[in-house]
Amino acid sequence: NRKDGFSQAILDWYDRNARELPWRRLGGAHPEPYHVWLSEIMLQQTTVVTVKPYFNHFISRWPQVSDLAAAELDEVLTAWAGLGYYARARNLHKCAVAVCHNYGGSFPADEAELLSLPGIGDYTAAAVSSIAFGKRAVVVDGNIERVVSRVYRIADALPQAKPVIKAHADVLTPSDRAGDYAQALMDIGSGVCTPRNPKCELCPVASFCDGFSAGDAETFPQKAPK
Ligand code: ADE
Repeated sequence: NRKDGFSQAILDWYDRNARELPWRRLGGAHPEPYHVWLSEIMLQQTTVVTVKPYFNHFISRWPQVSDLAAAELDEVLTAWAGLGYYARARNLHKCAVAVCHNYGGSFPADEAELLSLPGIGDYTAAAVSSIAFGKRAVVVDGNIERVVSRVYRIADALPQAKPVIKAHADVLTPSDRAGDYAQALMDIGSGVCTPRNPKCELCPVASFCDGFSAGDAETFPQKAPK
């Protein structure tokens, strides 16, 4: 069956090829929720290369979420300078305060509770719940959307395809190691299943991919004509 073979091949690939990133802990242990949350907020609309030094600076300056909550908003905005989208930094600070006031400084593991926090939407709630706590959650970002739409040759165009892609992503998501699985799909989406000239010969799930079989993987996801 496609589901188990697919996720197993993805996880095997991750064990051999995961990028070493400062917010990851490879080899089984879950990274700290604070690190996962901070990195996921920073990585919205900003590349991994740009985020790395900002992430390291924030973690050394504010080692715990309580330190970030205790900081002045202005200090946080100054440290954020260069990442753009300053609403993210305001919500970041608000969220740190809320985690301290409502949860005693520990992020909740539950997706629905995470969703209630400032600046945390569907994507971030699923990412934190799975990556930091090992819960099964369906994580879908732009990279994962591309991989899934190719595996199933989803005919619907974006953005209408989003709920269809999410339903297929749900079917593929394993209950074990859902966080590693999501991060593996992100790495495959950014380095293998690229928007142009995907490197299908390097892909661990080419044998499960309808787009690869049909020879037209690159044409997915479909976009509505302008
Ligand atoms: N982009 C967003 N979140 C990411 C993660 N956890 N790893 C790699 N790239 C990402």
